[in-house]
Amino acid sequence: MKVIIVKDYEEMSLKAFEVMSEVVKNKPDAVLGLATGSTPIGLYKNMIKDHKENGTSYKQIKTVNLDEYAGLDYSSDQSYVYFMRSNLFDHIDIDLANTNIENGKATDRQKECDRYNALLEVMQQDIQVLGIGSNGHIAFNEPGTPFGSVTHIVDLAESTIKDNSRMFASIDEVPRQAFTMGLKNIMNAKKVLILANGANKAKAVYGLVKGEVTENLPASVLQLHPDCVLVCDEAAASLIK
Ligand code: GLP
Repeated sequence: MKVIIVKDYEEMSLKAFEVMSEVVKNKPDAVLGLATGSTPIGLYKNMIKDHKENGTSYKQIKTVNLDEYAGLDYSSDQSYVYFMRSNLFDHIDIDLANTNIENGKATDRQKECDRYNALLEVMQQDIQVLGIGSNGHIAFNEPGTPFGSVTHIVDLAESTIKDNSRMFASIDEVPRQAFTMGLKNIMNAKKVLILANGANKAKAVYGLVKGEVTENLPASVLQLHPDCVLVCDEAAASLIK
């Protein structure tokens, strides 16, 4: 794993943009695996700025997102499909028909997981962007998720519900379940770009980089990936220095 430690969130976002930019420039029809959460917002801002200022085009780019809350769809401003549109897709020239995310409102949830897995089979990510949960989760793969998992429905951990409640009016509104790509789907990406900032991620970052490779800390599986780059700020890197 390549580890890049930078000063702060701004620098992390810029460095992440450089990594992303290389993929997009080298392959204008690349498949980008994208993530939600507050961590990648700065990366997306840099992509938007570059699109507006330098004309980088996303017309042929395809995307697959990691996860979506079960029960929410694009009409909910807490849904991840809404997040992707407002933080990236609506500000670049991407064709929305080329963007993919699990359908949170699917009534047959297993069928939806099967559909997404079939899609991922034919859309290998040229790059997969990841954040990390404070408990070491990636996407919504909570501690204990098998490394061989593919897209599935998950019961969110109490710590995740608490962490993510800041985005909702109250903790009661946070969905208790979500669709998520599995760890095997993530590991299948050609390149992984994982981002972390802030002191509350320091323990998870330690497990990611220096801990034992264990299903108890899902992100640790990335130690086995042949091309994984971690960009993190000093606060998140405090325990690995
Ligand atoms: C959520 C998402 C993850 C994300 C994590 C961290 O649970 N499913 O993909 O990495 O939160 O979020 P944040 O970047 O807001 O700290």
